[in-house]
This record gives sequence, C-alpha cells and structure tokens, in this order.
Amino acid sequence: MRVLAGYQPSGSFHLGNYFGSIRPILEFQKKSDAVFVMIADMHALTTVHDSDQLRKFLRDAVLDFLACGLDPQKTVLFRQSEVSMHAELAWILSTVAPMGLLERAVSYKDKVEKGIDATVGLFTYPVLQAADILLYDIDVVPVGKDQQQHLEIARDIAIKFNNRFGDVLRVPKAAIPEDVAVVPGTDGQKMSKSYGNTIPIFGDEKIIKKAIMGIVTDSKGPTEPKDPNTSVVYQIHKNFLDEATRWGVAKEYEQGLSYGDAKKKLFETYIDHFQKMREKRAELESNPALVEKIIADGDARARATAQKTMDAVKEAVGLR
Ligand code: ADP
Ligand code: TRP
Repeated sequence: MRVLAGYQPSGSFHLGNYFGSIRPILEFQKKSDAVFVMIADMHALTTVHDSDQLRKFLRDAVLDFLACGLDPQKTVLFRQSEVSMHAELAWILSTVAPMGLLERAVSYKDKVEKGIDATVGLFTYPVLQAADILLYDIDVVPVGKDQQQHLEIARDIAIKFNNRFGDVLRVPKAAIPEDVAVVPGTDGQKMSKSYGNTIPIFGDEKIIKKAIMGIVTDSKGPTEPKDPNTSVVYQIHKNFLDEATRWGVAKEYEQGLSYGDAKKKLFETYIDHFQKMREKRAELESNPALVEKIIADGDARARATAQKTMDAVKEAVGLR
C-alpha cells in the first residue's frame, strides 16, 4: 500500500493536528510499502502572503514532523515546490478537469466567504492537490472530513484522464479515520489555528501551561462529581491515554476530581508525552545543515518517482 499525506505550512502544529493526523500517519509509516509526507508550500501561497512567515512555517513543519518521529529513511518527507512536476501535471490535469467539478467545491466558497482573495490559484487548488496525489501512484490518502471533497475531485480527474488517454493514473482512495474524534480546543470548539484556541505541541512550556489552565469548564465545585463525556479537559486528556488508563481517569472525574487538579494532570501527561520530542526538536533546530540535508534528500526521492509518472503522462497525452 502506498500512502501520501499533505500539510499546508500555515502555522504551528497543535494537539488536534497531532492526534487527528500526525500520529495516524506515523502509524502508516510502520506498515506501508511507501509513505510520502508532502509539505504543500505551493498551496499555502493561496493564503500566506508574507514571505518571511511562509519560510518560518515551512521550516517549522519540517522540524515538527522529524521531532514527532517521522523517520526519513522510511518516509519521503518533501517540499511540493521543490518537485516541479506538481505544477506541470496540474496544468495537464486542468485541461481534463471540468469547470463544473471545481465550481461545486465547497472549500473555495468557504474560503472566499472568510475573506481570502478569490484568485485563480484558490479556485484551481483542488487540481494541484490532484496532481500531488496522482504523481506518486497512491492508494490511500489519510485526510480529515473537510478534505473528502478534494479527494473525490482527485479521483474524478484521474478517472476522466484514464478514460481519455488510457490506464495511466492510479485512482486513489481517501482514508477518513472514523475513530479519531475531533479534538476540542481550549474554548470547547474544534481545536483549530483559525480559532486561536490551540494547545501547541512545541513552544514555550509556560504558554502551554497557561493554555491548559485556561481550558473552559462548567461551574461544578471542586469536589462535585463531573461527567467526563462533557468535560473539555477530559476530552483533550483522553487522546493521550490507552483504553485502560482512560477508564481510570474517567472514574476520578466521576468521583469529584477538581478541574484545577484535572488540568494539572493533563499538563503532566502532556509533558511526559512530548518531552523527548521537544528535546529532539531543539537538537534538530540547532543543526540546520542536517535538517536541510534530510529534506533535500526527500525532495530528490520524490522527484525521481514524480518524473516516472510525468514521463508516462507526457507519452499518453502526446507531448512526447
Ligand atoms: P487547522 O484547523 O488548525 O487549520 P488543518 O486544517 O491544517 O488544521 O489540519 C491539518 C490536519 O489536522 C488535518 O488532517 C485535520 O483533519 C487534522 N485536524 C486539525 N484540527 C483537528 C482537530 N481539532 N481534531 C482532529 N483532527 C484535526
Ligand atoms: N488541502 C490539504 C489541506 O488543506 C493539504 C493538501 C495539499 C493535501 N495537497 C494534498 C492533502 C494532497 C492530501 C493530499 O489540509
């Protein structure tokens, strides 16, 4: 099985990204034939317009993945913009993709409604995403529910291309994890960069502690029984725990654990879980030459695979 995951470098990774996306991809790394993790920096250009900021986000995304346990020997970690075939294939696919298909994409409308510039790039975003996937003969693309439609568009484009030019592109499937619940943010809504309610994976311990101590709670007194199912603190905490430990912690809530103590426990668990990764990140950060070598190597490996698909595509459409 061949797997590809794509991430826009558009801000620091948080617990929602970690449990909903990074950890599952690291599981694929253990059991798949090939795993590609792509930093979608060209997609990010549709929304990030500050060049220094984009450079920082890109660097952070690479460091975060490596620190979280991405093994560059097993997984190809690469930058989309360093593999020029993405732009080439996107153009060819845009001559296959029907206008109506893109006009039905809800993410374009959502983004424009939120005030993002309605550029051609934002509109054809799903075509570039289709190219990202189709270049690597991918079977499975692990994504959140919000990306389901983009995956369907990629499938439709691949099928249309194959109908016109022969069986060249592998038609991918989305893998939408049903069991990974949405991780709530400190205000109880879905944790998201855009809501300013995140608990970051990396960064200053004091800020993280402050974020955890600020998680919303109801007005139950310190010794009153609490319902873990409706407690935001527990709903965040449980993601760190295996089944057995989860049960024990839930019991403590029911027996009247105070929210203050519950938050302290969560903070301790957080530190325990991420301490090694935080150390590894600091170590990598102090060695930019090594990190550049790792990512440049990933870029080269991605390019080699992408070139093969591009050759077959050019042949099929008659550019060769
Ligand atoms: P954000 O909402 O912070 O902008 P992204 O849209 O960049 O996050 O999401 C990157 C990945 O992380 C996606 O696969 C998404 O499904 C996952 N993800 C983001 N937030 C959460 C969350 N609160 N709970 C579970 N998964 C999440
Ligand atoms: N659109 C995806 C997101 O916003 C990021 C992305 C770009 C992607 N290319 C991809 C995801 C290819 C999966 C496969 O999250």
